[in-house]
Amino acid sequence: MTALWWQTCVIYQIYPRSFQDSNDDGIGDLKGIAQRLDYLVGLGVEAIWISPIYPSPMVDFGYDVADYCDIDPCFGNLADFDDLLMQAHRRGLKILLDFVPNHTSDQHPWFVESRAAKDNQKRDWYIWRDAAADGGPPNNWISDFGGSAWQWDEITGQYYYHAFLKEQPDLNWRHPDVQAAMFDVMRFWFDRGVDGFRIDVLWHMLKAADFPDNPPNPDYRLGMGEMHRLLQRHSTDQPEVHGIAAAMRDIADSYGARGLGERVLIGEIYLPVDRLMHYYGRERPGVHLPFNFQLIDMPWDARTLAAAITFYEAALPVAGWPNWVLGNHDRPRVATRLGQAQARVASVLLLTLRGTPTLYYGDELGLSDVMIEPSQVRDPRELREPGLALGRDPVRTPMPWDGSDNAGFSAARPWLPLHADWRTRNVARMTEDPRSILTLYRRLLALRRDCPALSIGDFALVNIEDEILVYERRHESERLVVALNLGGRPHRLQLPDWARGSRLLLSTHEDTALAEHGALLLRSHEAVVLAAG
Ligand code: NOJ
Repeated sequence: MTALWWQTCVIYQIYPRSFQDSNDDGIGDLKGIAQRLDYLVGLGVEAIWISPIYPSPMVDFGYDVADYCDIDPCFGNLADFDDLLMQAHRRGLKILLDFVPNHTSDQHPWFVESRAAKDNQKRDWYIWRDAAADGGPPNNWISDFGGSAWQWDEITGQYYYHAFLKEQPDLNWRHPDVQAAMFDVMRFWFDRGVDGFRIDVLWHMLKAADFPDNPPNPDYRLGMGEMHRLLQRHSTDQPEVHGIAAAMRDIADSYGARGLGERVLIGEIYLPVDRLMHYYGRERPGVHLPFNFQLIDMPWDARTLAAAITFYEAALPVAGWPNWVLGNHDRPRVATRLGQAQARVASVLLLTLRGTPTLYYGDELGLSDVMIEPSQVRDPRELREPGLALGRDPVRTPMPWDGSDNAGFSAARPWLPLHADWRTRNVARMTEDPRSILTLYRRLLALRRDCPALSIGDFALVNIEDEILVYERRHESERLVVALNLGGRPHRLQLPDWARGSRLLLSTHEDTALAEHGALLLRSHEAVVLAAG
């Protein structure tokens, strides 16, 4: 098999408001990203996914799109985007955009028309329903951000459906004109040279045609967020969504088929693994990579990790390429979930598992969630259900570049506060420090590029002992052992015969002693990669 770029690359997610500001308004932008491309090349990633940059009222910070074919002025303009794409490509970096097909902004001209009159030509581009007999919403569906998912609209006396905010009405993907218009949007960006899309909430795109009530969730507990009161049985993951994914895939593939470069589709899908697998496609190919978020949610112990990795590997369809994610703009940061020492171990795991890894900006610096004062809260998720720790501002704070004012992010006050230790935890400082997590990431990324066993090799579990997870990566004659100590106690590990006398390629502890007489001494929170032979 010849590996394709999206199989061997490491993807780096940029939250554009927080990466680099070039015009000193306190908000990151496209020119800012362009200024930092050399950092990304030096880090060793090969693709960047940029969260939404389209014109938007920013009620959900760009996930409420008012025009799919332009750039929001706070990020720049189309010329800036073309320049960024050219500069990235010149450096061998791919660019993935965030495609938000499930819903638009309520300011999108399509919705403005749709809501104007019941007989408007675009009425059925969105999901409108009459009130229930008692005047209430048409069914019991709950918005992912809390409250009913139905919004009463005075103008025409009907409810419209919104899986997220009321400012984000859901499109009606059963309408052929909606499909055609959105497929044109994909072509618009593909024609400009974009290398792929991350597709927002792909599993939400179709709803049961007759809109039955969702059943209660027996595992619901207070504090989980109201959306969890019900199981989203009828509002998400409907079988017809796979036809949509396949049609999107046809569009992406048509570029490769014409010799215009292989394009990739990544689906954002939060589902159990068995249902996630359907998104690779069955009769027809679906998305290339249905995001695998297990590392974000899973208890961090050797047995659970080993079971999850094995189950996932076994569940993959024959041609399905795996992928792993450690963090994103919606979930607590890895350093907060696991602590600094385990964040290093997690970086080794992410970059040595089989499949395409996605790395969230700032995780390479060990950034933690930032405490946001109530007066500084910007995230609508937090504003709607305050106090449940559901807010996402803490993981969206500015990237710290150096020790200068505002950490080199902007000359103006940043839109969200910096983390408290930015004077030491920043790119410039950590680049100088051979023991920093940034240096570890750079070394891991280089190792992954140098070792086919890591980028395309097979995976096999070797053993699990207490807090230790050991696996093998192998390609042709190259055999690597990865051993992770997920806990705080040192451990003496017996290596399998074939791994005796292995060479140390990398350790989280830099100066580790190595295998003696076939045993490996793993210190607390240490992870190593060894080469056999
Ligand atoms: C998923 C995105 O990741 C999240 O940030 C956003 O709020 C929702 N989709 C709604 O678009």
